[in-house]
Amino acid sequence: MSQHILTAVAWPYANGPRHIGHVSGFGVPSDVFSRYQRMAGNKVLMVSGTDEHGTPIQVQADKEGVTARELADRYNRVIAEDLTGLGLSYDLFTRTTTNNHYAVTQEIFKGLFDNGYIFPKTTMGAISPSTGRTLPDRYIEGTCPICGYDGARGDQCDNCGNQLDPIQLINPKSRINGETPVFVETEHFMLDLPAFAEVLGTYLQSKQGEWRPNVLKFALNLLGDLQPRAISRDLDWGVPIPLDGWSEQANKRLYVWFDAVIGYLSASIEWARRSGDPDAWRQWWQNPDAKSYYFMGKDNIVFHAEIWPAMLLGYSGIGARGGKAGSLGALNVPSEVVSSEFLTMEGRKFSSSRQVVIYVRDFLARYDADALRYYIAVAGPENQDTDFTWQEFVNRNNGELVAAWGNLVNRSISMAAKNFGVIPEAGELTDADRALLERSRAAFGPVGAELNRSRFKNAITEALDVVRDANKYLAEQEPWKLKDDAERQKSILFTALQVVDDAKTMLTPFLPASSNKVHAMLGGEGVWSGMPEIREVDEDGGTPYPVITGDYKDGARWEHRPIKPGTPLAPPVPLFKKLDPKVVDEELARLDTPAE
Ligand code: MF3
Ligand code: ZN
Repeated sequence: MSQHILTAVAWPYANGPRHIGHVSGFGVPSDVFSRYQRMAGNKVLMVSGTDEHGTPIQVQADKEGVTARELADRYNRVIAEDLTGLGLSYDLFTRTTTNNHYAVTQEIFKGLFDNGYIFPKTTMGAISPSTGRTLPDRYIEGTCPICGYDGARGDQCDNCGNQLDPIQLINPKSRINGETPVFVETEHFMLDLPAFAEVLGTYLQSKQGEWRPNVLKFALNLLGDLQPRAISRDLDWGVPIPLDGWSEQANKRLYVWFDAVIGYLSASIEWARRSGDPDAWRQWWQNPDAKSYYFMGKDNIVFHAEIWPAMLLGYSGIGARGGKAGSLGALNVPSEVVSSEFLTMEGRKFSSSRQVVIYVRDFLARYDADALRYYIAVAGPENQDTDFTWQEFVNRNNGELVAAWGNLVNRSISMAAKNFGVIPEAGELTDADRALLERSRAAFGPVGAELNRSRFKNAITEALDVVRDANKYLAEQEPWKLKDDAERQKSILFTALQVVDDAKTMLTPFLPASSNKVHAMLGGEGVWSGMPEIREVDEDGGTPYPVITGDYKDGARWEHRPIKPGTPLAPPVPLFKKLDPKVVDEELARLDTPAE
């Protein structure tokens, strides 16, 4: 049965190019999942964009000596290029500075406000004494009043996961210049999270056994201490507050996280309009059978498992204060928050300023996208914090992609191409032939089941086991020794090519570019697995901006396809680059070296 599946991918801040730590969390996993779901016949809508408001952008703009808008324009484009280069198949990757996003954000605010889930409050705001400017929560650090952790931030303690107000921190300090902030009265809007305690509890409890245990545990833990949360800021860069007396104030804006999570909805609406059917987004947001999967790194869990569901429920009129759905209608809450843990780099935290980093674009200038996708899928931070090392990258590339998969493809296709020019017809099959064919065909079920539950490591490991068994089979059958027995050689190569075709299908979500090559080498026609592209668009004659989109109504289906004897074989091309072991030292030398 075909299902509507929303793949909601975390929105990267437009404050710099993306590094591989970023894309290991939200990027590659969400794309593997979406490609699999499309192959399985589901209707996928994969949306995201750059997150362009708030202090992360303002602080970086100040550093680079440009306006927030200029910074956002620059990195929106850079990031769109990074993600396209990785082959991430967004239906729409847009940005948060569009008119559409402003309108949808303000509509959600008004719906929540009308239902009584947003209320004003005089709070204490932090000011930097030397500059007189507001000091954003995230840029204040101190000791957590709940668990005593030293490095708690003004908005949240990463140690115990609790949300904080900067004024609660013990011994607060500015992370920008170390000074102690002063607190002054300021008026803000609060989201009444306690009004959702009960519905959120029921919602999260119903996900037992379904979500990754770490994610659910973290989310349930947050429920213990739900406080009203400020959703506006003293800042001039963001979405204006859509109420009389507030929208005119140049220095009051909605909190960046409040508008960013709404991006999933506004991007779906923008996609629908661009696709020519403005109501099409409703299939993913209002159809009770639709599913939605949100992909991110673990520092985003609180916003996706607690705040965003609360906003959706409140807008729909569900919560302790009741209410009615806003003008868009009731909206679905996330089916699953699929969060990854953190990736470190050679034992250290990624840091652009200290050059403990490899940017996606630099990676792609030297290595193939599929090599990185493979590494992230098989050795990424799916369930625990994980270290990226160049040694492991080279080992896995050379041992698994080149020696196992690439070699299977190349030797079976080149032998068949050289001896027969076409996919050969099999004669009578032996038990060994049948066993391998059966084994490969039977893998679609379990590998698909793992992919459907975002267990990417298990899925790719099982798919690679098929490849290993096929290599073992060839080593035992030794078709290269059968020059005098063309009939037997044909049967062996037929068997091997069928398994290559199956494995190519199962590896497509992970390795779309190389799977397309295998498809062509086996004489396949048309586009096998669609690739994203950048298109310049604009809104009502506004300034053009790049979006990622693509045509993914391609040929790839999650099923065994019988190969057709007689199909001409293209001369094989190498699938993957074998890496010189000295790459490791070269890359290690680049770390800690300031970029030219
Ligand atoms: N920009 C945030 C980050 O990089 C993620 C935002 S995801 C959102 O941590 F869509 F919810 F906003
Ligand atoms: Zn704490």
